[in-house]
Amino acid sequence: MIHFDYSHARSFIPADEMKQLAQPVFRAHEMLHKKTGPGNDFLGWVDWPMTYDVAEFDRIKQAAARIQAHSDVLLVIGIGGSYLGTKAALDFLNHSFYNLLPASKRNTPEIHFVGNNISPVYLAHLTDVLEGKRVSINVISKSGTTVEPAIAFRLFRDWLEQKIGREAARERIYVTTDKSRGALRKLADEEGYETFVIPDDIGGRYSVLTPVGLLPIAVSGIDIDALMQGALDARMEYLVPDIQENVCYQYAATRNLLYNNGKQVELMVSYEPRFRSFAEWWKQLFGESEGKEGKGIFPALAEFSADLHSMGQYIQDGQRLLFETVITVKSPALDVNIQPDVADSDGLNFLAGKSMDYVNKKAYEGTMLAHVDGGVPNLIVEIPEATAYHLGSLFYFFEKACGISGYLLGVNPFDQPGVEAYKANMLALLGKPGYELQKAELEVRLRA
Ligand code: PA5
Repeated sequence: MIHFDYSHARSFIPADEMKQLAQPVFRAHEMLHKKTGPGNDFLGWVDWPMTYDVAEFDRIKQAAARIQAHSDVLLVIGIGGSYLGTKAALDFLNHSFYNLLPASKRNTPEIHFVGNNISPVYLAHLTDVLEGKRVSINVISKSGTTVEPAIAFRLFRDWLEQKIGREAARERIYVTTDKSRGALRKLADEEGYETFVIPDDIGGRYSVLTPVGLLPIAVSGIDIDALMQGALDARMEYLVPDIQENVCYQYAATRNLLYNNGKQVELMVSYEPRFRSFAEWWKQLFGESEGKEGKGIFPALAEFSADLHSMGQYIQDGQRLLFETVITVKSPALDVNIQPDVADSDGLNFLAGKSMDYVNKKAYEGTMLAHVDGGVPNLIVEIPEATAYHLGSLFYFFEKACGISGYLLGVNPFDQPGVEAYKANMLALLGKPGYELQKAELEVRLRA
């Protein structure tokens, strides 16, 4: 299934250190599976590919079919873990220009995201795109109180009700939230919207395989049965506690070893633009799980070869604090051959008869060796093909690696206390009742 190779990082890790991690990795495994570590009330994702609610899964498919039949556009409203996994799946598996395809080439709705920023320009431009189209909304928020999606939902619910009336809008709004708590749950119950549940014991960034991701992913036509099967098989494969046999644990261990040896930044690198959103999902998963108590690898991303012409210089020659995790697909879904040219005025005839995938792979191999020579260890995570099945495996691989890695680092990988600081300040500055004292203090500091 997933192939993991750390041979291009070995020279950066003292020889016996990997062996020494066998016991800590085993302990982290026990903490995850016996639920004895910090954050143990957020481990629902570990067995989720086996334990998910089959009736709800069927209801998701039915709702997806209705949305496909009745909508030109699905608006996905959510932020952080409530949208990044969905976007990762859509961008990785669908056509690179999915939303731009003519109706003859796409019989599923356009999918647009909102509620992940507070930009008035973005909102206004999105409204332009929606004009004259039949719109459905899937609003996703576990807490049901996050300000960004809450504001976007208020705006687009009003917009939809004005266009088609409150009754008809009820049939076009789908709510994914907590089973009983939060303002969104209350509103959904009052209005009679169809709802899907985000399990109590699964945090936002581990929730892509719950209704959070499944509904919009299914709307785009992706096979969610295959997605879940990939995750289920990955769960089985990465159940082995022995690091020698478990590549997911090898990845978790290697990145910690690199961190302990001065590599503080992990760049997720890909040679396929369709991996960019996946890397954004990964960035949140690891950043929010590990960046706490003054510790944690800083997760960043680069898309090659585009970023070789912007960040390539730094990676090759800048501060030696980086390592790369290259994420790659063995066989591309499509390929293009380079033709001979009689004049050969561009001097590229040496590539005639070669495929673009061949050129891309040579760029990857050459870059990797150059970066290793420049002091940047490379880890490789490879899947055989870009399919829903393999993506399901990949989601699970990184979720589990993140849990193990966080425990190796000595943090709780399932909380995010640091995210509250900006929220409290923003709400105080906006004048939310109850924040009066904080507002006054912050305003003094802003004026100083
Ligand atoms: O991983 C997390 O918990 C966060 O990124 C949340 O997903 C994000 O803050 C959105 O929260 P909510 O779904 O409650 O609106």
